[in-house]
Amino acid sequence: MDRYRALFDAHLARWTAALPPGGLYTPMAYLLGLPAKRVRPSLVLMACELFGGRAEDALDQALAIELFHNFTLMHDDIMDGSPLRRGRPTVHVKWDVDMAILSGDALFVKAYQAMGIRPDVLAIFNRHALEVCEGQELDMAFEQRADVPLADYREMIRLKTAVLLSCALQVGACIAGADEDQRRRIGAFGEHLGLAFQLRDDLLDAFGDPGQVGKQRGGDLRAGKKTFLLIRGLERAAEEGSDVLRAELAKPAGQRDVQRMLEVLEALGVRREAEAEVARHEREAAEALDAIAVPEARKAALRALHAQLTGRVH
Ligand code: IPE
Ligand code: IPE
Ligand code: MG
Ligand code: MG
Ligand code: MG
Repeated sequence: MDRYRALFDAHLARWTAALPPGGLYTPMAYLLGLPAKRVRPSLVLMACELFGGRAEDALDQALAIELFHNFTLMHDDIMDGSPLRRGRPTVHVKWDVDMAILSGDALFVKAYQAMGIRPDVLAIFNRHALEVCEGQELDMAFEQRADVPLADYREMIRLKTAVLLSCALQVGACIAGADEDQRRRIGAFGEHLGLAFQLRDDLLDAFGDPGQVGKQRGGDLRAGKKTFLLIRGLERAAEEGSDVLRAELAKPAGQRDVQRMLEVLEALGVRREAEAEVARHEREAAEALDAIAVPEARKAALRALHAQLTGRVH
């Protein structure tokens, strides 16, 4: 795993060093320079080697996926009104919203430049990049809806998060020359991994250590995000006849007592339910990886990454 990380970090450092100084590029280099897990580029490189390719041949596509991810983060932080990212001020706070929009737009272009011109690779990227936007639109629309069914939440996180992990793996597989069936199978692994990843992200937002997570604690509850925790919390609260969550949600976002909401969610057993849901998707991901017919030794890196994500605290 360290080999993939080292390869990617060196590639990213070369890319950053070649950026023009100043203007739009400063926030870009700032966000890319903050400590991050680099899950998606690692997935590109690992999927490439899983199917017999060389990680070195997928570095530009790994870079492209990480640039696209950072573009979504820069704009997501505006939409979510988030003050902190990776333990530091977000771009729209450190500079301003206009700069975060423009630097994000430029990052999106840079992602496409890095992805190259192979039609098969671009077709995969285009399809999934559009889905991420669709997922983000649903995420924002759900903030204004009182009742969001769990099935709709699941589809929203599949689109906003899981498909990009799946895309990273499919792009890596494509560079290695994997066939359609292999690409579909590795993509399915990525979707399960991605669903677990976003559910855990929601849990960390609420119950993680803000020092490690690097985001404002309870930001999702403050914004009224329809996460698994809040959706199930509202259902369980209705069963128990508790109206604390509804009363807090009725207040303007800035006046919600997030600590109180967290205590209610914990007491309703919703945190444990969410943890079980994460574990279920992680198990399904492991099974999807089991079902891929390549020599077991080639799966070691992806298995290690899966295990690392299972225990993640940020
Ligand atoms: C954050 O992604 C956005 C989500 C889809 C949950 P990561 O948790 O991968 O963030 P970094 O890149 O490691 O900071
Ligand atoms: C992020 O979801 C999804 C995308 C950026 C596409 P979140 O809004 O939960 O991500 P964080 O928690 O801000 O990293
Ligand atoms: Mg956010
Ligand atoms: Mg968001
Ligand atoms: Mg989040």
